[in-house]
Amino acid sequence: MSTPNLDPQAIPEGAADLPKDLAVLSDLANSLFSALPGAAGPQFGAPIPQATVPMTSVQQGLPGTAAGLADPADAVAGLPHYTTAPTFDSPVKPHSPALGGYGRPLGPPQGLTIPVLGLDIPCDGSRLPIGAPGAVPSGGFPQATAPESFYFLTPQVATPAAPVETIGLPVAGASGFDAKLYRKDFPILSETVNGKPLVWLDNGATTQKPRAVIDRLSYFYEHENSNIHRAAHELAARATDAYEAARESVRRFLNAPSTDNIVFARGTTEAINLVAQSWGRANLGPGDEVVISHLEHHANIVPWVRLAEELGFKLKVAPVNDKGEILIDEYARLLTEKVKLVSFTHVSNALGTVTPARLMIDMAHRVGAITLLDGAQSVSHMPVDVQALDTDLFVFSGHKVFGPTGIGALYGKSDVLDAMPPWQGGGNMIEDVTFEHIRYNPAPWKFEAGTGNIADAVGLGAALDYVMRIGMDAISAHEHDLLVYGTHLLTDIKGVKIIGQAADKAGVISFVMDNHTVPEIGKALSAEGIAVRAGHHCAQPILRRMGLEATVRPSLAFYNTFEDLDALAKVVRRLSLQK
Ligand code: ALA
Repeated sequence: MSTPNLDPQAIPEGAADLPKDLAVLSDLANSLFSALPGAAGPQFGAPIPQATVPMTSVQQGLPGTAAGLADPADAVAGLPHYTTAPTFDSPVKPHSPALGGYGRPLGPPQGLTIPVLGLDIPCDGSRLPIGAPGAVPSGGFPQATAPESFYFLTPQVATPAAPVETIGLPVAGASGFDAKLYRKDFPILSETVNGKPLVWLDNGATTQKPRAVIDRLSYFYEHENSNIHRAAHELAARATDAYEAARESVRRFLNAPSTDNIVFARGTTEAINLVAQSWGRANLGPGDEVVISHLEHHANIVPWVRLAEELGFKLKVAPVNDKGEILIDEYARLLTEKVKLVSFTHVSNALGTVTPARLMIDMAHRVGAITLLDGAQSVSHMPVDVQALDTDLFVFSGHKVFGPTGIGALYGKSDVLDAMPPWQGGGNMIEDVTFEHIRYNPAPWKFEAGTGNIADAVGLGAALDYVMRIGMDAISAHEHDLLVYGTHLLTDIKGVKIIGQAADKAGVISFVMDNHTVPEIGKALSAEGIAVRAGHHCAQPILRRMGLEATVRPSLAFYNTFEDLDALAKVVRRLSLQK
């Protein structure tokens, strides 16, 4: 077996001059973005259209179905009415929309003056006197509040008495998001572990499932289970309708133009392998180049290294600075006309960096390359609009976004999917078969050979419907508050070092600490019922770039609370005092 054709020049030693990089990046972004059609106004994180999903024949046929309900999950007879929240526009606007990012800066100051936060300071204002700055308004935070009525934006909020910091931290809970309400939809969040209430901060590995998903799966197996061959009989029609309704939910979630652009796969890993084996084999050979980034999960490294060994193309790696941000000028230098594909992550699973996806995609297109964006770690944290991103391909896993394991999706632009040959062969993906010749179905079915993961696809549809009802903008704003709060708590603890300090981050606070190994910290947290990932996170190259083999990685979801982060920090603080 030959050595992978990695280009060592592509990974410079150390970080380049950061202020210069940022200026270059910003200028480049501004010039590229202003040239885009319809550049005025936010291009990213645009609210997902709440289109009315037509009732499927299955739903129409169900006893007790409320005809005309917009949401298929609401129309399933016999299921409880799950928590829904009004979709309200977040008062906090996306950071760096022109760069395709959606995380929000942890600084510089956003103009808020707040009390110093600490373990004994209320995290949601609940222990402050009613009416004090940062306190919960009597009657709780409004759930359907118009943005201008958020308490922290009202002009009468007084500057609190000393001690104060003006480092740009929003008042915890400033988004007004009621995570505690949504937690009730997740039965597992009431578990106790080691005699302590479960604190689930391992969302980067997998997310928990709301009752809406659990019940949808049961409903499928109790009332709809069949293979999907619509014409055969009634249950086949129900199963087919449910499966295709789930495809429509994925389309709506990603704002894809058509369900024809949505291919179900087992998850992100399988979807990337599908692209490598189908598009890659058809389009790559000696003399060609593929660019990935130093931030990638192994799932977006291993398939390309293996294929490079076999097909003889060159794999190049866009480097990062010491904060974990892609060096855009170095990335620009890698983009020659030999580059046929740029495949990179939207959010780093190990550091939380939000990459400037739209900028990088646009730059790739300028040299004629197509793009594959790995959304495994972005879809649960921010709105994703594949048309605004203009990516050719996008992949994600259902279990990272409150859906079942074993199901995910590949989005592809129609021209790209149409030109890709099938990967696996078998039933469902064919139009006609003889021993001499096979005619394939069009996309997406030509990529779905064999009996798919039908029930879990339906469960994924229910998960996406659920988060769309809450609103990804609202989720993103709440998680930003959590990220800022947790980062601040951990930074304050002696000996703790946050790994990954990008200006644009989402979902992850990786750290190490003096005098305690990563497994020790993970074990101490687990003893208190707190689940985090402690290890290399299947992203060894980026951790080694940071000089490490492992980190402790608390990772967030919208059902996390400031108390969850208090509990984490309490254990870490105790450890820091032990040695
Ligand atoms: N990719 C998953 C993680 O980051 C498993 O933990």
